[in-house]
Amino acid sequence: MTQLPRVITDDVLSDNLIELLDGKIERLPWATLEGPQDETVDGVLTFGHMLVTAEHMARFPNLKVVSNYGVGVDHIDVEGAHELNIAVGNTPHVLNGTTADQAMTLLLAAGRRLREGDIYARSPEFTYFDPAYMLGTEIHHQTVGIIGLGGIGYQIARRCAAFDMNILYHKRTELKDNPDNLDLTYVSLDELLEQSDFVVAICPLTEETTGLIGTEEFAKMKSSAVLINVARGPIVDTDALTTALQEGQIYAAGLDVTDPEPLPRDHPLLSLDNVTIAPHLGSATMQTRRKMAEISVENLLLGLRGETLFHSV
Ligand code: 8YV
Repeated sequence: MTQLPRVITDDVLSDNLIELLDGKIERLPWATLEGPQDETVDGVLTFGHMLVTAEHMARFPNLKVVSNYGVGVDHIDVEGAHELNIAVGNTPHVLNGTTADQAMTLLLAAGRRLREGDIYARSPEFTYFDPAYMLGTEIHHQTVGIIGLGGIGYQIARRCAAFDMNILYHKRTELKDNPDNLDLTYVSLDELLEQSDFVVAICPLTEETTGLIGTEEFAKMKSSAVLINVARGPIVDTDALTTALQEGQIYAAGLDVTDPEPLPRDHPLLSLDNVTIAPHLGSATMQTRRKMAEISVENLLLGLRGETLFHSV
């Protein structure tokens, strides 16, 4: 019997991945990554966002591929992998619409106080209707500023256009391809922060974007503004965000990601009414997660055979 390729995977995998990998690889525990040098390891499959460093990869002289279930590869040392001649795969495109839907879910929920409303509607206190309570902020015809207009950002812009929003965006270079001819205005980060009613962060986490939104940036934002983060937690300085929400420097926040993730259970951010938090659910639909599983397994198997990946970084 031929030996199956030996692949380090997260110890917990989704049913989709387990089914697609069945009979194709031999799974090795995640702890193998921290273990001694091993010539028999062929691949790594990352499911969550655990770190894969150059030091880890250098322990496995026959490692051919690191396949990531997800688009963001900030937890993998991609440059280090390339230096070691290891391919890195990811799952872009398939999750663009789904993650954009999550951005809108949070934008609407935070702007219209859905979390507080839901709690109140279930509580014993809700015994009469008061037209004066829980007024939120308008969404249609407001200005949204999108930081990072890649595949997901563009899908967010399309959805905001359908809400008759005025759309600003900021990224390193002006957008070249606007297939839906959306009315988009390219602005500096400062202009975006100053003018937006909703600021949506959806840029990759890099050295440049770590701490991109901190105390100074909150000071530039409108006190009525809502911050949405569907990118990575460390793009926003958690302490500065907590202060901004506590002191009314901004109106509310909707977070799909936090730093750290998860936050300590007694973190002050968790006790604030004006923050809506999801546990990193951007791509979490049954349909999209199935596609991500298929692509990440395809990338893995191609890489193990030394072939070009379907999607590589
Ligand atoms: C996660 C994501 O990867 O694609 C990304 O970058 O953040 C998510 O889709 C996914 O939840 C698996 O960890």
